Amino acid sequence: MARRRHPAAGYAAIAAGLVVVGALYSVLSGGGASASAPAQADTSVAQGRSLFVESCSACHGLYAQGTSQAPSLIGAGAAAVDFQMSTGRMPAKELGAENERKPTDFTPTEIYDIAAYIASLGGGPAIPDAAQVSIAGANTALGSELFSTNCAQCHGFAGAGGALTYGKNAPPLTASTPTQIYEAMLTGPEAMPVFGDGVVTPAEKRDIIAYIIDTRNEPNPGGLSLGRTGTVTEGLLAWLGGLGFLVLIAMWLTAKRRDHVQGESEQQ
Ligand code: HEC
Ligand code: HEC
Repeated sequence: MARRRHPAAGYAAIAAGLVVVGALYSVLSGGGASASAPAQADTSVAQGRSLFVESCSACHGLYAQGTSQAPSLIGAGAAAVDFQMSTGRMPAKELGAENERKPTDFTPTEIYDIAAYIASLGGGPAIPDAAQVSIAGANTALGSELFSTNCAQCHGFAGAGGALTYGKNAPPLTASTPTQIYEAMLTGPEAMPVFGDGVVTPAEKRDIIAYIIDTRNEPNPGGLSLGRTGTVTEGLLAWLGGLGFLVLIAMWLTAKRRDHVQGESEQQ
């Protein structure tokens, strides 16, 4: 008689395969590397300087003094560099294109080093620390009011972004981290005004950040949108969906084979 594998063997093989795929998935998707700033060191400035010469000096000048292509970064501060690089706006790929948020090729350490170099040239706001951007105990209701008066005319009421009068766009704020929101207010990228601590106090900045984060947690009014869940969740959902489908197929195939084998033994 033909040897028959135990039906459970098929399931075990599938389960083992899924574990391997899952492990690969979490390795490949990078598991959200932490962006904590390493301790300050002189080597940081030196390394930042050489990275700057390599990636930025063509537009901003060998000593960050600016060129006809791009502004001087002397006095721009570490916060401007961290904001521009962590949101993928800098290094700009080409001149004249609108700089949009995209993934960065630089590690948090490299960004920190370049920021340290620019800060060493003097002036400009520092990268806010964890306490400055913490929303624990922040006043979301006040944040909502402050957002309406200071930000909504460009970014829309739920921070979904909007068109500006002169053909440019204020981006959605759905993916910005608390640090990036704080830095945007401190440095006023492109057409955005600077909201110095005299205009919007540090406490008010935290209220605004808390409000922006809060709007992301509100359920969408109707519709089957994954727009607020972010790429990681979507990837995971897609993966789990695909997984369920594979399991169903596998069960169907095994069931069919068992019917078939039974049919054969009845004939004999
Ligand atoms: C292709 C040219 C180009 C390259 C390369 C480039 N930049 Fe820029 N950068 C610009 C231009 C043009 C602006 C001004 C327009 C704007 O703000 O979007 C700018 C603006 C900035 C600002 C904002 C200045 C401010 O006062 O807030 C920072 C910070 C910055 N760049 C950092 C960098 C860093 C760091 C690098 C290298 C990793 C880099 N840039 C590479 C063209 C470039
Ligand atoms: C006059 C219009 C205007 C106002 C007012 C304004 N912004 Fe902006 N904001 C912009 C523009 C334009 C950009 C994109 C700049 C760029 O791409 O270089 C931007 C970018 C940002 C970003 C970066 C988004 C990302 O993750 O890529 C954040 C965060 C932000 N703004 C927060 C705020 C907050 C908070 C306020 C109110 C305190 C505010 N903005 C007020 C026009 C504005």
